[in-house]
Amino acid sequence: MEKNVLVIGGAGYIGSHVVFELIDQGWRVTILDNLSSGLRQNLHPQARFVEGDLLDRALLQELLREGYQSVVYLAAKKAAGESMVKPELYCQQNLGGGQVLLEEMAQSPSKNLIFSSTAAVYGNPQYLPLDEGHPTNPMNYYGYTKLSFEQNLAWFAQLKGLRFVVLRYFNAAGYDLRGRITGLEQNPANLIPLVMEALLGERDELRVFGQDYNTKDGTGERDYIHVTDLARAHRLAAGHLNQGGENLTVNLGTGAAHTVLEIIQEAEQISGKKVPYKVVGRREGDPCSVLADYALAQEKLGWVPKFSALEPILSSTWKAYLANQAQS
Ligand code: UD1
Repeated sequence: MEKNVLVIGGAGYIGSHVVFELIDQGWRVTILDNLSSGLRQNLHPQARFVEGDLLDRALLQELLREGYQSVVYLAAKKAAGESMVKPELYCQQNLGGGQVLLEEMAQSPSKNLIFSSTAAVYGNPQYLPLDEGHPTNPMNYYGYTKLSFEQNLAWFAQLKGLRFVVLRYFNAAGYDLRGRITGLEQNPANLIPLVMEALLGERDELRVFGQDYNTKDGTGERDYIHVTDLARAHRLAAGHLNQGGENLTVNLGTGAAHTVLEIIQEAEQISGKKVPYKVVGRREGDPCSVLADYALAQEKLGWVPKFSALEPILSSTWKAYLANQAQS
């Protein structure tokens, strides 16, 4: 049987990397994306592209009726800070979009779903590394929308025969190692894109949120996972569902944490430039350390992170920023 996948949000940052990985490995891909944050520039030339919105029920119905072996659901709002001031937007897009998708998949021949979830479902870590059995207690509305969809999905699996792999990403970073994806996220909120903008002089200085944490240099530490490693996990998840594998919820991280200052230092080394920065107070809601236990993904999907050292993460990001600058 031909391997075909519908990728909802396949023009976005993670979605475009997932599409490239699937096509590289011989899958046939249809992308549904409304281009609200995704970019035409990042569409794979061999993917079929349908411009449209997940909330357009008739369009979704028509696509799902075609019968996909897997649906990858990435399209969502994802800025934790913004979700606390605009919960209506996150309610409509993430919860509303998710509801339409579950209802329509339940009625269609496309029954296998790979869901883009987040470490934000755990909230403030009670112990490290975080495994999938850690209590879920999101500290922001964004994390709540992801957890809520996970729970709804489990009910639809039980009651309507959907099958799923939920992927809980830690801090996604990096760009395609072959330099094929160069469209950058607009108004990024995460550390590494902000470091890149500071290197390029596109912002005055980076603010380091706190240097009084209990870490090796006092700055916050996170588990940064290369987007190419994330992309491969989606392809393995699609294969797992194709082969009749069980429903799964797994962490995707590296088990290693890096501090803000380590990232600044490595970025300076790679670029040969200085990152202008100043240390300010802690950002509200930021935990000291976040770290994944990915043993379950390894056991069930045969997945291990391969490209998630700081060097490949930061050098691929730097190359994408330079290529983007050259294009504009
Ligand atoms: C954020 C989200 C989280 C989401 C994750 C992946 C919050 C509170 N959390 O995690 O829900 O799942 O992204 O998208 O928004 N930092 C600075 N200066 C900056 C920006 C960041 O020092 O200008 C520090 C932070 O304090 C943190 C680290 O860099 O220690 C990473 O921050 P960020 O990239 O925003 O990701 P998280 O906060 O870990």
